[in-house]
Amino acid sequence: MCGIVGYIGNQQAQPILLDGLKRLEYRGYDSAGIAVLRDGKISVRKCAGRIDQLRKLTDEKPLGGTVGIGHTRWATHGEPTDLNAHPHTDVKGDIAIVHNGIIENHVALRRHLEGQGCVFISQTDTEVAAHLIHTLYRGDMMAALRETIRTLSGSYALAVLNENEPDVLYCVRLGSPLVVGIGQGEMFLASDIPAILPHTRDVLILEDREIAVLRRDGVRVFDDLGNEKTPAPLHVSWDAAAAEKGGFAHFMLKEIYEQPEAVAKTLSAYVGADGFQPMLPGAPDRVEFIACGTAYHAGMAGAEYFAHLAGTESTAHIASEYRYRILFPRENQVVVAISQSGETADTLAALRKAREMGAHTAALTNTLGSTLDRTVEKSLLTYAGPEIAVASTKAYITQVETLLLMAMDLGLRNGSLTSDRVQALLSGLRELPEKMEAILQNRDFLQQYCDRHLHERLMFFIGRGMDYSLAMEAALKLKEISYLPCEAYAAGELKHGAIALISDDTPVIAICTQEALLEKTLSNLRETKARGAETICVCPQRFAQQASREADIVWPVPDADEMLLPLLVMLPMQLLAYSMAVAQGRDVDKPRNLAKSVTVE
Ligand code: G6P
Repeated sequence: MCGIVGYIGNQQAQPILLDGLKRLEYRGYDSAGIAVLRDGKISVRKCAGRIDQLRKLTDEKPLGGTVGIGHTRWATHGEPTDLNAHPHTDVKGDIAIVHNGIIENHVALRRHLEGQGCVFISQTDTEVAAHLIHTLYRGDMMAALRETIRTLSGSYALAVLNENEPDVLYCVRLGSPLVVGIGQGEMFLASDIPAILPHTRDVLILEDREIAVLRRDGVRVFDDLGNEKTPAPLHVSWDAAAAEKGGFAHFMLKEIYEQPEAVAKTLSAYVGADGFQPMLPGAPDRVEFIACGTAYHAGMAGAEYFAHLAGTESTAHIASEYRYRILFPRENQVVVAISQSGETADTLAALRKAREMGAHTAALTNTLGSTLDRTVEKSLLTYAGPEIAVASTKAYITQVETLLLMAMDLGLRNGSLTSDRVQALLSGLRELPEKMEAILQNRDFLQQYCDRHLHERLMFFIGRGMDYSLAMEAALKLKEISYLPCEAYAAGELKHGAIALISDDTPVIAICTQEALLEKTLSNLRETKARGAETICVCPQRFAQQASREADIVWPVPDADEMLLPLLVMLPMQLLAYSMAVAQGRDVDKPRNLAKSVTVE
């Protein structure tokens, strides 16, 4: 949700800022801008539109200078216009800032600052911060920023340039991520690690209310009382190539194809020659998952795994609901927050609530050093590598896989699973990457299907139990990137209302991975066929014959243990969404209105 970059060094800042912004464009992409400081003067270029638009502007009127900040925006306050784009400056233009997050008291502050003579030219909450810092600055930038922290409420990551201090780049955060990249004679700043990966893999993750002062030869970090801190840098194992398209038409397609490798990596991170690495501590008698979007769907699958494999009561909750729900704490319970980015505001708030009620907390995230990773008792990582496309694929698959491993580990420890069963599942997991490759090698039929079904009015995904969670995720993928209206339904619930929507232009896709529920789901599929729907069944090869009696089309995946099939059937569903979006001419990696990581409520 908005991307920030910053640079101070001996190279020209403009190309580094633009390249960093391009890498962060997935965080927000409705307007962009940069500010560069040269000979004690700040100059700004900004416009509505994407980074390529900004690039045109800077090609026409380049900005020279070796210190600068940049921003790519996902509008919250004010439309995506040239004026509302960041950076924003104070009246005189000697302070320039970029901002992620939301300043909640901006209305009152604006009134107050207008009373002091500040003239506002944008509708943003950010401009308030620019004027505020300017009025608080009396020759001591640290003092001005400390006072800014005391004055602003809400969430923010701010990067600040000041004409009076031409060799310094300041930044401060509260609730929105910021990382400093440590180079040789140069320093980088970004809201997200992929932006600085081409330059360095040594990063400092800033904590809330910390002020970082970047100079060419180093970075110093202070708390909001002015005490200097000595945070230890982190070395990131992701490399720059992992955040590039690598010959694929889209990041999403590349990330879909990276899933076999991501599954293998995640498995080897948690299971060694001598068994499981420590996963969920203790033996909880209730496990709750909190998450948003795709991560919530992974949580739904996780709840099924914990029930089936560990005999443990388990529920998945939408984080934005959980945070306002009346809770019934239980002594021996764990709340697991799932989040690819580890920065989703609703998930973090739900986690705080869980902690307040006294639950043990754990996290499942793809981002080392993220807020989530750092704030729980036990953090588990997924090893998907950087995920750039807004629609999550490999992060989701590795989340589901890790949840499966967590449930297996607990099941083994609490006696719900025999070690033979665990060994059988583990050898099945080791065979998965090859089976996934087989699915990925044969996707032409999906392209053909999508070309024929471009103009569907509505599409349904149905399933029961675990398959319902998969249907939810399949439908979300399709909605997110193709904008095709679609519904996910618990198969047995369809007849209680939504079946009224079924006609001959509403294809119905049933996901069937569980033998015990196969006949039931197929009979629901039959009910839709009787109302004119074209019916499709996605299932393992061993169900294909039975499925073909009810479904017009069967999309089989290789056979595997029932518990492993979710990791296979989701691949054709991701490819379906991708192919449909391509056939519709959509912007696959940057769908309208969405952002990769939503750091506001
Ligand atoms: C946003 C994205 C979704 C994502 C959700 C949760 O809404 O558009 O694709 O699933 O956030 O993100 P997280 O980083 O917490 O997994």
